[in-house]
Amino acid sequence: MSSPSTAEVSSPAVVVLGSANMDLVIRQTRAARPGETVFGKSFGSGAGGKGLNQAVAAARAGASVGLLAAVGDDDFGVRLRTFLAEQDVDTRGVSVVTEATGVASITVTDDGENSIVVVAGANAASELSEEDRAAIARATYLVVQLERPIRLVEEALKVARAHGVATVLTPAPVVEGVRDLIELCDILIANEIEAVSLAATDDPHVAAQILSREAGRVVVTLGARGALLAQDGVIAREIRAVAVDVVDTTGAGDTFAGVLVAMLAEGRDFGDAMDAATRAGALAVTREGAAASMPLRAEFDGAPAPIQTDR
Ligand code: RIB
Repeated sequence: MSSPSTAEVSSPAVVVLGSANMDLVIRQTRAARPGETVFGKSFGSGAGGKGLNQAVAAARAGASVGLLAAVGDDDFGVRLRTFLAEQDVDTRGVSVVTEATGVASITVTDDGENSIVVVAGANAASELSEEDRAAIARATYLVVQLERPIRLVEEALKVARAHGVATVLTPAPVVEGVRDLIELCDILIANEIEAVSLAATDDPHVAAQILSREAGRVVVTLGARGALLAQDGVIAREIRAVAVDVVDTTGAGDTFAGVLVAMLAEGRDFGDAMDAATRAGALAVTREGAAASMPLRAEFDGAPAPIQTDR
């Protein structure tokens, strides 16, 4: 049988424009102080990058997903492409460029908390190809974060807006100029630190309310405390996470974002989507790694339900 032409290949409903990194992870008892040397307990490497992670989370939740990313022509790039090929993510938008594949140096301490330093490398590629634009225009949701150049992200959001595609931004890391992107977002998903920094307040509830006057809906994730949803300047919903034994928090926010969008793309309402995203995020922190820790649909469907309160 002949292979289908490009026109016949179905177009992903969820398109993620974002980073793909090789995560280099050291587990250690506690964080080193400036100038101090400490022993780590283990070292490992695996697929990461907020874009790749969110694409994998959405695909494992059952969405049809395409990733627009760039990797280097090097061993890390080969490993990332091999990993993605096993994840049911459409990788036609993953280009190979001359810069080295992006890397993230990650330390995870005994309490599961992580700190991350990213070297962008290939993620700094700043062109949207005609194929990228067409994939965005045909999608139902465009999902972006900020480990790619901000002007590229802005351009992608504008293409989506011009074609009636719903836009989702995770403002991580918080970079200069991000406030200008918020009005281009139907959904903003920020963690507590990002939300308070963007809204210049120290209360995540207030931050969610402020930001929701600019974006359509704002979700602020609160780690072990759950998440909240704000719309039109008011808190619309709060969700309390189920307690779990935390092993590694790396990628938990990406799991939440990917699963939330996958559920919305499936036609579920926002409350159901937040419920599924919270269950999936809770499972992800019980496992090591970023993309590797993301649960399959059957796993989070069967996980304990968080408690939601409508406001
Ligand atoms: O959000 C977690 C991710 O942040 C890691 O996988 C790392 O690559 C950085 O992008």
